[in-house]
Amino acid sequence: MTTEATKLIIGNWKMHKTSEEASTFIQTLSSCFSSPPKYSEAWLAVPFTAIAKAAEAAAHSSFPIRIGAQNMHDAEEGAYTGEISARMLKEAGASFVVLGHSERRRLFFESDEWIHRKVVRAIESGLRVILCVGEDKGEREAGKTEEVLQRQLLTALQGFSEEIQHVLIAYEPVWVIGKTAPAPPEMIEKEHLVLRKIVQAEWNNTLAKKIKIVYGGSVNSDNAKTILEEADVDGLLIGGASLSLESFSAILQGK
Ligand code: PGA
Repeated sequence: MTTEATKLIIGNWKMHKTSEEASTFIQTLSSCFSSPPKYSEAWLAVPFTAIAKAAEAAAHSSFPIRIGAQNMHDAEEGAYTGEISARMLKEAGASFVVLGHSERRRLFFESDEWIHRKVVRAIESGLRVILCVGEDKGEREAGKTEEVLQRQLLTALQGFSEEIQHVLIAYEPVWVIGKTAPAPPEMIEKEHLVLRKIVQAEWNNTLAKKIKIVYGGSVNSDNAKTILEEADVDGLLIGGASLSLESFSAILQGK
């Protein structure tokens, strides 16, 4: 768990913004603040083509902005037309990668086992991992949320020990992604505790306390503050509202 000021504000731009747009966004974001924002570290998962320019702009920012990718292949290199490797992402300037996003699982048929192989490669390559887990509507209604979280988390992280410190868990209930309202704060807090208990049971109490768990799903500048007030929420993973300077800077400022 994290203290208030170190909660992480992470943007997931999905398939939005060219490299020029990314660079302008980051330069303007950095000039919005005369002193560091309340949440003093921002992470942005940008399209592959924008990583290099975004990283260049972030290097000149007045407060820390980390740049990362939204996916990668698990192989070191090879005949995988259209894919990208961890080494390529690092060279371009990425310091982290989002893995297991529900859009990757659902639209691109990524299995828990494949996500596991990607996590292994990312960590070996020195990238931090944001591992997304979350139940869909049917799973929640069938009372299977805990089972789904357990399966997704334990399969993705099987075989790891202390290295799971390099993994940030993003709890993203699929049924609230891209909607108008997030999951209720008490539900978010409850599922974060469930995730911490899984880490405690499978690894140990120290890691369960240390590992960061962020929430994602319809976060915007009107609801971010309430969610961040939950003790077990170490930050936010924000899709739509991270595309606008106005809302992303308001969230960073803790408004
Ligand atoms: P959203 O997306 O904030 O637009 O709901 C979150 C995500 O998919 O990571």
